[in-house]
Amino acid sequence: MGRVLLDNVVKVFDKSVTAVDRVSFEVADREFFVLVGPSGCGKSTTLRLVAGLEDATSGDIWIGDRNVTSVEPRDRDIAMVFQNYALYPHMTVRENMAFALRLRKVPKKEIARRVEEAARILGIEELLQRKPRALSGGQRQRVAVGRAIVRDPQVFLFDEPLSNLDAKLRVGMRAELARLHQRLGTTVFYVTHDQVEAMTLGQRIGVMKDGRLLQLADPLTLYNRPVNRFVAGFIGSPPMNFLAGRVETAPLRFIHPAFTIALPDRFREPLARYTGKPVTLGVRPENILPGTDSPAATTVPARVDVAELMGNENILYLAIGDEQVVARVPPHPAPRPGENLPVRFEADRLHFFDAETEATLA
Ligand SMILES: Nc1ncnc2c1ncn2[C@@H]1O[C@H](COP(=O)(O)OP(=O)(O)OP(=O)(O)O)[C@@H](O)[C@H]1O
Ligand SMILES: [Mg+2]
Repeated sequence: MGRVLLDNVVKVFDKSVTAVDRVSFEVADREFFVLVGPSGCGKSTTLRLVAGLEDATSGDIWIGDRNVTSVEPRDRDIAMVFQNYALYPHMTVRENMAFALRLRKVPKKEIARRVEEAARILGIEELLQRKPRALSGGQRQRVAVGRAIVRDPQVFLFDEPLSNLDAKLRVGMRAELARLHQRLGTTVFYVTHDQVEAMTLGQRIGVMKDGRLLQLADPLTLYNRPVNRFVAGFIGSPPMNFLAGRVETAPLRFIHPAFTIALPDRFREPLARYTGKPVTLGVRPENILPGTDSPAATTVPARVDVAELMGNENILYLAIGDEQVVARVPPHPAPRPGENLPVRFEADRLHFFDAETEATLA
C-alpha cells in the first residue's frame, strides 16, 4: 500500500526557521497528490521529510503501514526525482538507470529487465547507449524519471521535476507524467510552485504558505471554494481580482466607491454579520462580462487600459475607479485602449473575504 501520512509534522531549521509547521495530511494509495505554494513555503522540506533526507523536529511520518519517522531513506521504499536531476555524465543512459539497482545488488538479469521495461514505458529505448550530454532536456528528464521507475517503489516523490524545461516541453512532459501515473498506478507525491501544473496533475492538491497547509481539496473545490483570500488568489490565472468595499443588507448589496452591486439572496446569511463592515470582494477574470444588464443591478463602469488580444480570448486590464481589474472575455468585439466599457460581474460567482482575517465568508 502506497499511502503517505504526515501527522502533526514540524521542521525547524537552526532553532529559528519553522519550515514546516504542524502539517497533517494523507496521500492516498495510488493517488496523484500535489503540494503547491509560493517559493519558501516549505514544499521541498515536506517532501524531503517524507524521503528521510531531513529529520522531523516533531511529529510522525508513515509510508504504507510503517511508521518511518526514524527509518533510513534507503529503507523507506520511495524514489525521488529532483528539479536538478543530475545524471552521471560519464555513464550511459542504461548505466544511469541501472545504478541504484546495482548498488542494491539486484541480479544483473533483473536489472536489465527493469531498465528495458522502464525505457519502453518512457519511449527512450533508442537512447540507452547514449551519454547524457547527447540528450535533449526532455530526454534527460525522462531518464531521471526512468531511474525512479526501475526502483519500483511504493511512492514516487517529485520535486519540481519540470521546472528546468522550456514552456512547451513542460506541457508535453506534464501530460506524460499524467499518463505514466495512470499506467503504473503508483502513488505520486509531487511538489511545485506552479499552480497550473498543480491543477492539471493533482487529483488532490494541498496549498501551503509559510509552512502551514491552508487547504487540501480536489482542483475544482480549490477553485470554486477557496478557504481564504490567499488560496483564492493563488489558484487561477490570471488571478482573482480583489476589491475592498462594504456590505449593506437592506437591500443586500456590495458598495464600492465606484459602483454598487445587488447580491443574490444566498449571500444574505454568510454576510449578515458584516453589515456596514469592510469586506473584500473577489471576482475571477472570467466572471467579468462586457456589457450592461437589465435591470442594471450589477453593472460596473470601467475603462479599458490595456487589451491583450490572444485570438481565442481577450485579456482586458480595466480601470474601475482608482483600481485595476483583469477580465477574460470573448475575442469579439475587440475593445480599444481608452474605451469606456461597462461590465457586469456575475453576481452568483462572487467571493467575499473578511477584510482582516482574509477568511472566506461566502
Ligand atoms: N537546510 C536548511 N537550513 C536552514 N533553512 C532552510 C534549510 N532548507 C530550507 N530552509 C528554509 O525553510 C523554508 C522552506 O524551504 P523549502 O525549500 O522547503 O521551500 P520551497 O517551498 O520548496 O520553496 P521553492 O519553491 O523555492 O523550492 C525556507 O525559508 C528556507 O529558507
Ligand atoms: Mg523547493
